[in-house]
Amino acid sequence: DSYERQLDRATRPVDRTIRVGYAQVGTESGWRLANNQSIRDAAREFGIDLTAIDADNDQQAQLEAVREFIRQRMDVIVISPIVDSGWDEVLMEARDAGIPVLLSDRKISVAEDDLFMTFIGADFIEEGRRAMRWTAANVPADKHPVRILEIQGTVGATPTIERKRGFEMLLAEHPDYSIVYSAGGDFTREGGRLVVGQYLREHAWDIDVIYSHNDDMALGAVDALEAAGIQPGRDVKIISVDGTKEAVKALEEGRLNCVVECSPLLGPQLMKAVTDLMSGKELPLRIITDERVFTAQTPREELRGRKY
Ligand code: AHR
Repeated sequence: DSYERQLDRATRPVDRTIRVGYAQVGTESGWRLANNQSIRDAAREFGIDLTAIDADNDQQAQLEAVREFIRQRMDVIVISPIVDSGWDEVLMEARDAGIPVLLSDRKISVAEDDLFMTFIGADFIEEGRRAMRWTAANVPADKHPVRILEIQGTVGATPTIERKRGFEMLLAEHPDYSIVYSAGGDFTREGGRLVVGQYLREHAWDIDVIYSHNDDMALGAVDALEAAGIQPGRDVKIISVDGTKEAVKALEEGRLNCVVECSPLLGPQLMKAVTDLMSGKELPLRIITDERVFTAQTPREELRGRKY
């Protein structure tokens, strides 16, 4: 069957509750916990019957979850893909079963572009660019070249790939700034602690900026620096991505210097897309979330009003 015909079947008006299977990444970060909550709340508001499976950061478990949803003949399958590759086969199985797949939060690379309906999430490249833009504007290279330590997220995940790419795009325009060390921290606090701990064991401290691909790892870096008697935010500037309450508090305390927002509150947009799809509306291929940057200059009331 053509994709269009299957889409027709999937979008026939339903006179019963829509059943959605959600294959989630895991519980690696504060962002993810807020994302889970937002999805559960929105499903309840939209009257959608949601079954969520937590893959605990294991792609095999996530592939198995999708196959289970196909067996259960869900109306819609939503995936927040742990990594970018390895999806073609299972998505073809979903397409053959006539079940539309939506991507939430993270993207994938596939050979055919009619394997998923839409992607709802942030512009990770722009987040990386925002991080480097702040660095160039706030950490001067007038006395000596600026040395950056990068803490990457999960290997192969789109936020890791694209936050790095966006940062490096602007880095290329600033010859006095360079990434001198880069290692993965798997988006967890413990991961950030380990990366900085390892660097401290192997080198005399000579870093001007830490660029962390998420808040949890940045807070882990703060733990490791403080344990070594280095003052985060003052002795080294720290930039992270997400904007969780804990990171924003650290920003107010001066222990982080810049937080690029990546909103986990995707639930309402996602459930609206599901209901639109099931009532026959055509979805845009890309639904981008609205985001901003927080710094020490951001008014306190705005920082305090954070929902996650
Ligand atoms: O995919 C979004 C990223 O995944 C968030 O930035 C990070 O905190 C989470 O683990």
